[in-house]
Amino acid sequence: MKSNRKKHNLSVPKEDPFFYTDSETLSILDKINTISKRHPINVLVAGRQGCGKSSIVRQFAAVHNKPMATFQVGILSEPAQLFGEYTLENGETQYKQFLFPQALQTPNCVIHLEEINRPENPKALNMLFSILSDDREVWMDELGLLKVADGVVFFATLNEGDQFIGTELLDPALRDRFYMILMDYLPNEVEREVLLQKTEISQEQADEVINAINLLRGNSENSIEISTRITLMIGEMIAAGATLKEAIVTSVQTSKETLESILLSLQLDRGYRQKNKTEYIRYTKDVLNS
Ligand SMILES: Nc1ncnc2c1ncn2[C@@H]1O[C@H](COP(=O)(O)OP(=O)(O)O)[C@@H](O)[C@H]1O
Ligand SMILES: [Mg+2]
Repeated sequence: MKSNRKKHNLSVPKEDPFFYTDSETLSILDKINTISKRHPINVLVAGRQGCGKSSIVRQFAAVHNKPMATFQVGILSEPAQLFGEYTLENGETQYKQFLFPQALQTPNCVIHLEEINRPENPKALNMLFSILSDDREVWMDELGLLKVADGVVFFATLNEGDQFIGTELLDPALRDRFYMILMDYLPNEVEREVLLQKTEISQEQADEVINAINLLRGNSENSIEISTRITLMIGEMIAAGATLKEAIVTSVQTSKETLESILLSLQLDRGYRQKNKTEYIRYTKDVLNS
């Protein structure tokens, strides 16, 4: 049995001082907070990989001083897996409760359900269903009646790819119980700002990165998605002393062929590893320190 042990405690997450969102989303989140004071509420945040879905959930909790817990729904294979498991202790079988039952009984808790669109087994969502529906409670033999506490906000995040559109993969009965927030990558100017504030690169380097990223994103032959996460990885690599080429080669995950053509279009000399020209050095402490 795969365990889904608690990873976080129920604490208020730290605010990201450089988190940006558009005013529309901000206003919706504000209303969600208002509604949550009347009854628990469900919000679905959809958008491509690395566009800031997890971050916005965390920021919502941080800004409103709410405790938060995150659960990976994508790896669940058994419905009850979120709640707890049976363990053997001193020859006795015991039921060990996980963080999820505790979180949903904690007033004002922000509960982040990650990758709700792809649990290993669709039945894994059945037990969640009664918690997310108007009942807001579920009965378990092991734990009794679990009622969702006042003020709880469920955020489900869903990775949107080219393979599927929006929430089509979600059970319709589940889908219409969520408010929906659609996210996309930040516009250039804002992404540049985030890059400058979160990595230690210069204005010039930031411009170079943004230019390169625009070229990559606009490259119609090989559709490569460059998320904000990847942009930041490139920035950090450059801040650590890498060249733009090195940063791109290590951060953008794609085939060797695509990478070659990218470097060519960026005019960062071709061949990301030309064996005949590369010097080989012993990788040991004494060589590094000499
Ligand atoms: N709007 C934003 N403002 C500042 N940083 C952002 C923003 N969106 C994403 N990031 C940064 O990009 C990275 C990936 O974001 P994350 O929330 O994990 O994406 P997702 O959950 O959509 O895959 C994080 O390091 C986050 O801090
Ligand atoms: Mg995420």
